[in-house]
Amino acid sequence: MGRPISSSSSMSLIFLLPYIFLLSVEIFNSNLTANAVTPIIQRACDSSTVKDFCYNVFGNNTMAERARTKYNIEDVTIQMAYSNYSNIARKIVTVTSNETNPEFKQLYKKCLHQYVLLKYDFEYLNSMLIFRGDLDEASQRASTRLQTCINYFYYSPKVSNPFAKDNENLSYFFELIRDIYLTSFD
Ligand SMILES: *[C@@H]1O[C@H](CO)[C@@H](O)[C@H](O)[C@H]1NC(C)=O
Ligand SMILES: *[C@@H]1O[C@H](CO)[C@@H](O)[C@H](O)[C@H]1NC(C)=O
Ligand SMILES: *[C@@H]1O[C@H](CO)[C@@H](O)[C@H](O)[C@H]1NC(C)=O
Ligand SMILES: *[C@@H]1O[C@H](CO)[C@@H](O)[C@H](O)[C@H]1NC(C)=O
Ligand SMILES: *[C@@H]1O[C@H](CO)[C@@H](O)[C@H](O)[C@H]1NC(C)=O
Repeated sequence: MGRPISSSSSMSLIFLLPYIFLLSVEIFNSNLTANAVTPIIQRACDSSTVKDFCYNVFGNNTMAERARTKYNIEDVTIQMAYSNYSNIARKIVTVTSNETNPEFKQLYKKCLHQYVLLKYDFEYLNSMLIFRGDLDEASQRASTRLQTCINYFYYSPKVSNPFAKDNENLSYFFELIRDIYLTSFD
């Protein structure tokens, strides 16, 4: 991309114009591709109760753009949720081990325990996906587990909550998995 410009810096502007034009078309097109909303993504997001979150997570996601079936988009959503879950779990481990206030630390540990158990809920979600089982029930199971952690903070409002947004986003993921499962894509 840099070569035509630098090697032609001595050329006249007229000569350069086609290049500049082509270059901007290229940038414009790559932007369009980067923000592609496929019919599957649109159907998934428009029928979801967490529509904005849906467009945010799928908006610039190559895997989501490649999804061609309901199964594909369910798969992508579960894998994205799992990746998010892993990052959050790692964050909870670090924050908990660094925490010096014993009351805070105690509550973070309890929340971390729910996150450890969530791994099994993700395994269950994955097997329900593969065997075309009930993703509604499976996502609600995971959501209930997450809610236990959220409730710990709710009933201990004096403990600062560094995971509030993370928990909220993960619960949106579970809601999204459920909504997509309950949506018809025909
Ligand atoms: C690319 O997309 C972003 C996000 O939608 C937008 O803000 C930006 O203006 C676009 N750029 C071009 C060159 O179209
Ligand atoms: C889309 O993702 C690509 C690669 O991850 C990134 O370089 C680009 O800035 C993103 N675009 C927007 C509009 O978020
Ligand atoms: C969780 O996913 C959201 C949406 O993709 C992202 O913005 C956020 O950074 C992720 N958080 C973690 C902790 O991975
Ligand atoms: C935890 O403590 C270590 C060393 O004291 C520090 O490097 C790290 O940034 C801390 N992490 C967090 C999330 O506070
Ligand atoms: C939560 O999700 C939103 C939407 O994808 C994202 O912009 C935000 O960075 C996420 N925050 C966290 C803490 O994961």
